[in-house]
Amino acid sequence: MLKIGNLTPDNPYIVAPMAGYTDVAFRRVMTEHGAGFAVTEMVSAKALVFDNQKTKLMLRTAQSEKIKSVQLFGRDPEDFKRVLKSGDVNEFDIVDLNFGCPVGKIIRNGEGSALLKEPALLLKIVETCADNFPVVTVKLRAGFDEQSILPSSFFKDLERAGARLITMHGRTAEQMYRGISNWDYVKRVKDAVSVAVAGSGDILTVEEAQNALKIADFVMIGRGAMYDPTLFDALNGKNTQRFEVIFRHLDYLSEYFDDKYASTTVRKFWGYYLKGLRDTHKLKVELMQTENVAKIKSLLSDFILSA
Ligand SMILES: Cc1cc2nc3c(=O)[nH]c(=O)nc-3n(C[C@H](O)[C@H](O)[C@H](O)COP(=O)(O)O)c2cc1C
Repeated sequence: MLKIGNLTPDNPYIVAPMAGYTDVAFRRVMTEHGAGFAVTEMVSAKALVFDNQKTKLMLRTAQSEKIKSVQLFGRDPEDFKRVLKSGDVNEFDIVDLNFGCPVGKIIRNGEGSALLKEPALLLKIVETCADNFPVVTVKLRAGFDEQSILPSSFFKDLERAGARLITMHGRTAEQMYRGISNWDYVKRVKDAVSVAVAGSGDILTVEEAQNALKIADFVMIGRGAMYDPTLFDALNGKNTQRFEVIFRHLDYLSEYFDDKYASTTVRKFWGYYLKGLRDTHKLKVELMQTENVAKIKSLLSDFILSA
């Protein structure tokens, strides 16, 4: 099995970082259901420097996460250095750097994918982090727009700067989530470097994930893990029931968050978790109004019995 620095994940299937979704509860449930490891939501290096308590809560980890990866974003190398020296992320094995986020507010701050337009600064951030943390990885897009696709030589520069895994999401930042992820961009990275490479974008099935591994060493799965929360188990040849995973997710949300937060934050998942199932309209309406995890479980149980 391929290594990321000195780390050897159990398998090549990684849960992609997703802001608002890959909190400790979701990462735990996905890790216990077959993922090699899972990456946190993007966490602001600056907010950590300012000791923001809400941001610090995003750094909670679960014991069952054998490999723990935290994704940081920012633009000032000194912010990253301070965070890494502060001990705030000491529980993590990997620091992943976000150079892919295309959201307006992040770009206006010159963070995320805006740094694809400032390769020297981007490399300085990677270097600074690699000097201050054992295993640093990067996640990026193909380029800021079609006119500025990153050259292959840049991936070599990332490797030299100390990146131990390069994850390529095969879209430009300007594309946001339109179109489909172009895995030729993943292949270009793989052809250019000798460190591990992961591909990201539009992997929804076991077959697609297995094919992706013909191109990259690791495959990152984001939305597909929510459309089918049994996908990672299936990739390990294990048959699991969708609702078994969903109930476990609810249990973990209750363990880490208060009832109101748990029941409202999970609302974002219903559109994914229930997609493709029949007769879910009434259930979805009720789930979106419920502020109580026990009630959510009882609504789901009634739905399963009536199906
Ligand atoms: C709701 C949502 C939030 C995301 N947040 C992040 C993030 O915090 N950091 C990051 O690098 N990518 C983020 N992404 C991008 C994903 O990690 C992934 O690269 C992208 O969704 C394509 O993969 P998929 O088709 O498997 O979802 C996010 C994507 C979605 C849909």
